[in-house]
Amino acid sequence: MMADLNNRDSFGSKFGVLAAAAGSAVGLGNIWRFPYVVGENGGGAFLIIYLFFIIVIGIPVMLSEFTIGRKAQLNPVGAFKKIAPNTQWHLVGLMGVGAAFMILAFYGTIAGWTLEYVYCSITNAFADKTPDQLAGMFDNFKAGTFRPVLWQLIFMGLTAWIVIAGVQKGIEKSAKILMPLLFVIIIILAVRSVTLPGAKEGLAFLFKPDFSKINAGVILKALGQAAFSLSIGMGTLITYGSYIKKDNNLVNTAIQVSAADTLIAILAGVAIFPAVFAFNLQPDAGEGLVFIVLPNIFQQMPGGYIFSLLFFVLLTVAALTSSISVLEVVVAYFVEQLNMTRKKATIIASISISIIGIFCTLSWGVFKNVSIFNYNIFGILEYIAANILLPLGALLIVFFVGWIMKRKIVKDEISSYGLHKNRIFNIFMLIIKFIAPIAIALVFLNGIGILKL
Ligand code: TRP
Repeated sequence: MMADLNNRDSFGSKFGVLAAAAGSAVGLGNIWRFPYVVGENGGGAFLIIYLFFIIVIGIPVMLSEFTIGRKAQLNPVGAFKKIAPNTQWHLVGLMGVGAAFMILAFYGTIAGWTLEYVYCSITNAFADKTPDQLAGMFDNFKAGTFRPVLWQLIFMGLTAWIVIAGVQKGIEKSAKILMPLLFVIIIILAVRSVTLPGAKEGLAFLFKPDFSKINAGVILKALGQAAFSLSIGMGTLITYGSYIKKDNNLVNTAIQVSAADTLIAILAGVAIFPAVFAFNLQPDAGEGLVFIVLPNIFQQMPGGYIFSLLFFVLLTVAALTSSISVLEVVVAYFVEQLNMTRKKATIIASISISIIGIFCTLSWGVFKNVSIFNYNIFGILEYIAANILLPLGALLIVFFVGWIMKRKIVKDEISSYGLHKNRIFNIFMLIIKFIAPIAIALVFLNGIGILKL
């Protein structure tokens, strides 16, 4: 039945789809990025705006991506070419492939740090260090050359190894094992954190809104964070959608994946902020938050050795199930549009991304004096990808499904050709035609300063 599609690989089971898509969504974005962005941008008020974007923009964009992917059964570039032939829409897919290069480049940096911290946890390297020593340890490590690059390359190798194994035997299989593991670990950590004396202040920081910190830039960051966390806006979920079987209920899948992603982000906040406040540390430590603040906490608390190990293993697992989804976008494009074998595509993609990634990793070391708009190399890639390319991609994707694709085709895909009821179809169309594109455009133009509201 798939013969006409060159025996295209696909996800085998419903749980597999959920695990793989949630695996993509739940990543460093939830556990490393979400807490520090919340910490820098005002806590609870940021959270409310974030949740609003997840529901009004995130879920509809995710469903739109699944719809495009499953309809076309192709990578993002091929999918736009197939659905809208002889137009320029495939450039949206190409922009996604470009974004994948950038995201995976800086993602590998942080994932590499995570591996170093797994190693430090095992060797008990945090024991008996003062807060200053721990901060120094992190700063020295990230300013180095050999170690951070080595760990990054190891992480990229792991990512490539899973992707080479294929959609069902690599991506789906690993997600089915790793995602339940991740869930158990984060629950344990959240429970441990809220039972620390003094945890209340951290919970208040996370859940009590203070709107005085909110401005246009912060609102754009909330949108960028929502897009980044849900893996939307660059074709990852078009690619995964293309591996979903025709009888799967896409609406349920999109809602479940978004809910799981949001739950894990909040749990990560619950695991981190109470501990931060319980030990009198600062929530706005930036990208070092989990690497500087948490080791302090771990080494002061009973059972810290094991919690530290658990936490950094958790972070590695989360990173891996996401990085494979980013790499898969590039690989699917290379295989289907440029006729490479999967193995060759994976090797070429991961090596070239690693090369860009090394520049990111060296942003605090050899290249620390390179500064672009006040960001280092890492920071500028992260900003452009999360706050520009993803919102722009999301905007174009909803516009495409809302205005370019035939309504009947969208309806068929969303109802799985009449198999599932589509009570929400009209609301969905209303959102993707009007509400989401207008909201994204306003937030985006306002956030980058073109529009002043
Ligand atoms: N969502 C992942 C995270 O939170 C990262 C990620 C995977 C991603 N695929 C993506 C981000 C596609 C943007 C686009 O860590």
